[in-house]
Amino acid sequence: MFTKKLGKSIGIEITGLDTKVDLSKKIKSKISDLLSEFSVVVIKNQNITNDEHIKFSQYFGTLETTKAGTDGSGSKLIILRNFDEDGNIVPATDRQRLNNLANQEWHSDSSFKVIPSKMSILSAKMIPSKGSNTEFLSMRAVYSSLPEKLKLIIEDKVCWHDYSHGRSKIDPNLVTPEEKKAFPPVKQKLVLNNDKHGKSLYLGAHCSSVEGMTKPESKKLFREIYQYVDNESFVYSHSWKPYDLIMWDNRAVLHRATPIKGKIEKRLMVRTTIAGETSTLNH
Ligand code: OGA
Ligand code: MN
Repeated sequence: MFTKKLGKSIGIEITGLDTKVDLSKKIKSKISDLLSEFSVVVIKNQNITNDEHIKFSQYFGTLETTKAGTDGSGSKLIILRNFDEDGNIVPATDRQRLNNLANQEWHSDSSFKVIPSKMSILSAKMIPSKGSNTEFLSMRAVYSSLPEKLKLIIEDKVCWHDYSHGRSKIDPNLVTPEEKKAFPPVKQKLVLNNDKHGKSLYLGAHCSSVEGMTKPESKKLFREIYQYVDNESFVYSHSWKPYDLIMWDNRAVLHRATPIKGKIEKRLMVRTTIAGETSTLNH
């Protein structure tokens, strides 16, 4: 197994590893250590079945079951695709395409759950020839770059995260009444402080407001923080190659899809999500 650093702040690539075979305890803990240090781990050349993907993911914890209303519902897999059962690209107004659009906002997977996910593992199956990178933003680097005054203001803040918040902006009907009922807003700490690699900010598209602040006050604070997000050295942008498998730490990075460039071609990705063990309120 060989490693190579990717971005300035985050990301490491692994080659020479076969995730299909039974991995030794030593290799599993090496991968966990790399993930906790570098936040994003890209494992090259993993032509795996869904069952192999699930088996590998389970080395790192219990998997989330995909919620109703998402492709893969009831299973351990989330299917991201822009085409229907017959292989035809669906119209831009289709739920699948709108959900893909929602993924273009910086977010942390399942931050709208009481106990949000720990990590996600995404496998590339079909990739368009241009665009459709996935980008990762180091929220530890963002936190470190904040002025001390702002760090003091946000230290003990708690935010509301709401599944329908970001999605309703894309289309008011994208979130169904069932989804709204299943996922009422939840509270999450803004500054996560239980990691030996440093403090991190927990934000993203599901984050709607700060507890105890009015909407305009919350917006003002988020705008202030987001000024510091706009720094290329905090981002690792991944240009997918067939059979890439990427793991990321949802409590240390935000991520987003980028648009397909030129003609819309088929894109198929499969994801597992490793459940968190604690609420961020304990961080
Ligand atoms: C995800 C996700 C982005 C992409 O799988 O959670 O946000 O580029 N994916 O598909
Ligand atoms: Mn995501």
